[in-house]
Order: sequence, then C-alpha cells, then structure tokens
Amino acid sequence: MRIAVYPGSFDPLTNGHLDIIRRATALFDRVLVAVLENEGKSPLFSVSERMELILRCTESIEGVEVHSFSGLLVDFMRRAGASVVVRGIRAVSDYEYELQMALMNRELHPGAETIFMLPSVEYTFVSSRLVKEVFRLGANVSHLVPTPVLEALRARLGEPATRT
Ligand code: PNS
Repeated sequence: MRIAVYPGSFDPLTNGHLDIIRRATALFDRVLVAVLENEGKSPLFSVSERMELILRCTESIEGVEVHSFSGLLVDFMRRAGASVVVRGIRAVSDYEYELQMALMNRELHPGAETIFMLPSVEYTFVSSRLVKEVFRLGANVSHLVPTPVLEALRARLGEPATRT
C-alpha cells in the first residue's frame, strides 16, 4: 500500500491544490490531505471548515482522505504509516523553502521522502493567499477555486457589487 501525505494550510483549497491531489492519486493508493492546525496564522476558515471544503471537493476522487494534524508533520506521518510527502512546486521561488522543509523532514524521519509535483500551468500563479486578497478586492476567482470554495468565500467575505 503506497501512502502519501499532502500537507498544507489549505486556507482555502484552490484549483492548484486540487490538481496536485488528482495527480498524486495516480501515483499512490491513499493520499492523505493533512490540514495543519495552526491558529497562529489567523486563518479565514477554521480547520474543520477547511476539511469540510476539501472533503466536498474531493469526494469523487478515489483514494483521498482528509485529516488534520498539529505538531510535527513527521509524527503525523509515523502515526499514519506514510513515508512520502507530496508538495506542489509552482515556480523556482517555491523551491528554496520546500527544499529546506524536505531536508528537515528527512533529518527528523530518515524514512520520509518528499516528492515535488508540478501543477497544471494554468495554476502556477495561484495561491490561497492571493485568491483571498483579490477576492476581497472584488476580483472574480471562479476559475481559480472549486465551486464549494467560491461559495464559502462569498458567505464569509460577502459579494462586492463589482467583480472583474
Ligand atoms: O500550505 P503551507 O502553509 O505552505 O504548508 C506548510 C506545512 C503545513 C507543510 C508546514 O508548515 C508543516 O509541515 N508544518 C508542520 C510542523 C512541522 O513539521 N514543521 C517542520 C517542517 S520542516
């Protein structure tokens, strides 16, 4: 059984995340999407709201499970019996931080391997942070996030009169 963990904040899930999840399920029997419980970041959505959104957006994708974790990722991996971390890399700018995390995780858990996956090109500029920022300022993000996430953004932040 090949088990991978796809960890992140997912505040909220974007089409870029969903693309990586789909690609990971082609390589692994189980893909555990693991939402970090880190209230320190003042998230827009609570962990349970983020998990619920991920569940709704991935219910048709076989092999996906949604979890949350606190503490070290490697401890969650040990508990879950997973030895692979999946991370999406959008651009070279992501690489340095991702490299450090991958090497630290391997230091803490020598059995942990990280694989970097590339999202579809149309999502290489998409991040949860930018989606929230432009949505707040009135932009149309309907092509950047799954429909349940769009609805949740509207419910949480309201619908400005003009969207571009
Ligand atoms: O979506 P993000 O915020 O880039 O995800 C970062 C995440 C959750 C993968 C990372 O912060 C993490 O794994 N945190 C858990 C604590 C931990 O294990 N830190 C050491 C990683 S080197």
